[in-house]
Amino acid sequence: MQIFTKTNNLIKYLESISEKQIGFVPTMGALHNGHLSLIQKCVKENDISIVSIFVNPTQFLEGEDFEKYPKKIEADKKICSLAGVDILFLPTADEIYFEDETNILAPKIKGYILEGYKRPGHFNGVLQVVLKLLNITKADNAYFGKKDAQQLYLIKKMVKELFLRTNIIECDIVREESGLALSSRNAYLEQSEKKDALLLSASLKKATQIVSKGEKDASKIKEEMLKTLKTIKVEYIEITDREFNKIATIQPGNTRILVAAYVGLTRLIDNIEV
Ligand code: PAF
Repeated sequence: MQIFTKTNNLIKYLESISEKQIGFVPTMGALHNGHLSLIQKCVKENDISIVSIFVNPTQFLEGEDFEKYPKKIEADKKICSLAGVDILFLPTADEIYFEDETNILAPKIKGYILEGYKRPGHFNGVLQVVLKLLNITKADNAYFGKKDAQQLYLIKKMVKELFLRTNIIECDIVREESGLALSSRNAYLEQSEKKDALLLSASLKKATQIVSKGEKDASKIKEEMLKTLKTIKVEYIEITDREFNKIATIQPGNTRILVAAYVGLTRLIDNIEV
C-alpha cells in the first residue's frame, strides 16, 4: 500500500496509471466494520483502490466535535493494508483547502432539512470536500454508506447536476448484532449509554414491524417510535420518500424513516428504507 500525503503527488501518480479503473472510499478515519465493508467492496470491484482519511474541518459547525473526533491512524493503516487497499491518501487541510477559495453550496432546500436543519452549513463542507476528493482521485466508482442517507442523497445529486463522471455506489448500513448502526462516533458512548444508543435502531425496527402489519399513517408510526425513544433526547423523527420529501402516508418501496437523537452528549443518527 502506498501512502500519499501531498495532493499533487497523488494526482501525478494517478496520471501515470490512467488506464486503470479506480475505486475510492472517502473517510474521516477511526475505521470500523462499516468502513471495512465499503473498502472490501471497493477493492473487489476496481483495479486500483484508494481510501482517504481526512477529518474535514469545513463540515463541522462551531462547537461540534472537530477537535475531539476520534483518531486511530495506526490502526486505520493496518485495516487498509490488510484489506488490500492500493493507495491511502492522508492529506492535511493545507493540501485540500486554499485561501479565499471557490465554494460549492448545498441545495437550498434539501441541504437544509433534517441534518442540514440541525447542522446548517454542514452539507456545504461535505460537498466541497467530496467534490475535491473525486476530482483528485478521478474515481470511476466511489463508495458511501447509507447510514448518512441525506449525505449520500446530496452527493448523488451533486454528481448528477455537476455532470461528474464518478458512479456513486450505495452501501448498506452495517450494524452490531444488537442493531446499533456502526459509527465512529459510537466511540464517544460510555458503557452505561450503550443501552440507550440501541433505542434508535429499536425504534426503526418497531416502525418496520408496524408498517409490515399494514399501518401507513406516518404520524402514527412516529408516535410509536417516540414511545421507544422516550428516555433519550430526540432531535427528529421523519418519514420521507427516497427523495427526502416529507410524506404523510407510507409509500412501500419508496420510503425512508430517519431518526436523530442525543445519547448523553453523543449525537447519533440512523435510518431505514421501507
Ligand atoms: O461520511 C464521512 O465520513 C464524511 O462526511 C466524508 C464523506 C468522508 C466527507 O468528509
